Amino acid sequence: MEKIYTVGGRRLEGEIALSGSKNATLAILAAALVAEEGQTLLTNVPMISDVMVMSEMLEQLGVPTRFDRNTLLIDATNLQAHDAPYELIKQMRASFNVLGPILARFGAARVALPGGCDIGARPVDFHLKGLEQMGAKITVEHGYVEAFAPNGLRGADIYLEFPSVGATSHLMAAAAIAKGTTRITNAAEEPDIISCAKFINALGGKVSGAGTKTIIIEGSRPLKGARFAIDSDRIEAGTFAVAAAITGGDIYIRGALEAHLEPVSAKLIDAGVQVQFDVDGMRVKAKTGQRLNAVAIRATPFPGFPTDMQPIFAAMLTLADGTSIITETVYERRFKYLNELARMGADCKTEGNAAVIVGVDRLTGAPVAGSDLRATAALVLAGLAASGQTEVSGLQFLDRGYEAFVEKLSGVGADIWRAGEPEPGDPQLWARSGGRAIPVSAVTEDQAFCSG
Ligand code: UD1
Repeated sequence: MEKIYTVGGRRLEGEIALSGSKNATLAILAAALVAEEGQTLLTNVPMISDVMVMSEMLEQLGVPTRFDRNTLLIDATNLQAHDAPYELIKQMRASFNVLGPILARFGAARVALPGGCDIGARPVDFHLKGLEQMGAKITVEHGYVEAFAPNGLRGADIYLEFPSVGATSHLMAAAAIAKGTTRITNAAEEPDIISCAKFINALGGKVSGAGTKTIIIEGSRPLKGARFAIDSDRIEAGTFAVAAAITGGDIYIRGALEAHLEPVSAKLIDAGVQVQFDVDGMRVKAKTGQRLNAVAIRATPFPGFPTDMQPIFAAMLTLADGTSIITETVYERRFKYLNELARMGADCKTEGNAAVIVGVDRLTGAPVAGSDLRATAALVLAGLAASGQTEVSGLQFLDRGYEAFVEKLSGVGADIWRAGEPEPGDPQLWARSGGRAIPVSAVTEDQAFCSG
């Protein structure tokens, strides 16, 4: 099994360039199916295993894809299959979002229900209810969603009970080629939604209001392939910001966007870290030899503090001066990693939907296992600050969302390396195979059920 090894104690200094946003890319890859003519060229696509699985999904639907150095070419003109099998959907929840575009194009789709996930319940009821409001007849049988709309989808007024990121981007894409106007209220306001809307508009679609609670989509056909650049990954930016903070370091994060990172930078500043944005990125500088302040954090939908950042901040707060409280409102079981941090000497526990972290003077290196994408990254960061060697397993999760994680950290001075047999889903294997998608059968079972 491949693992990441760190020897903690080095102050990180230098510059890191961000990759493209994982969540925006996945939403856009599903939305790309609404382009009925021509090629779509996406640039700044991160080389991560979630993108690999999504490309494989598109291939299986009859959509050729070609990946070359962070550029992905897709041609959805000949989208044929109406069937997205469980073997693919179980790899990654975001792939469920092919349902709406296929249904909108052909009037029929059959897509497996995504499985559970150990960060909490992740149902798809908002997705299905929204499509029903647009005229789809939906049945769920034998683990598959079967949807019919023989006369096509039509615009509707859809209210989301919770501003779900996945449901908002899914319904927005389906509505882009439905007949008439769709209005989504209580929509997710995440930057990934804004990117997805801009992408649909680049195809010739008519989406307005993305980034606010009300999104209006005027359906139009046919949409045509376009060129589109993916924004930088704000969660990756936050991860490297914490890498600077936890090591008393000073890192310039090239590509970081202030508008995406305000909720994160505000908490870094509360913790006593200096954060400075300019047009090209963000500088994060911690005071050397001085402990960070404890802070209170509440993970909520954007523009609140991102749930994806809470494990990363928890790692940092284990060493802060005082007691920090992190309240999670999006996923109820997102604290599994605390047990692993405790194995490194952290003083932390859960109380209901909150983590209570009492800062300690030092962490000590230990073998630890990541349980999901962000948890695994958090453990690596803790290892950078711990005394002695830390050994982190769970890289099949890490590879879902971080491109060249070890290389980027060692580039700013971290004592970090990766060793052992690569996992079959390792994106580096993908790169070596010339960027062609690795058959999904090569991806191990334990990669299923955990996005984030
Ligand atoms: C997306 C992101 C993930 C991030 C999460 C929250 C991707 C691939 N993943 O996940 O990184 O952690 O947003 O910002 O973009 N819900 C329902 N019914 C539904 C849909 C959602 O009850 O039909 C609930 C979920 O259980 C959860 C909440 O809504 O409690 C948020 O889910 P959602 O925003 O949809 O998350 P994802 O799109 O899965």
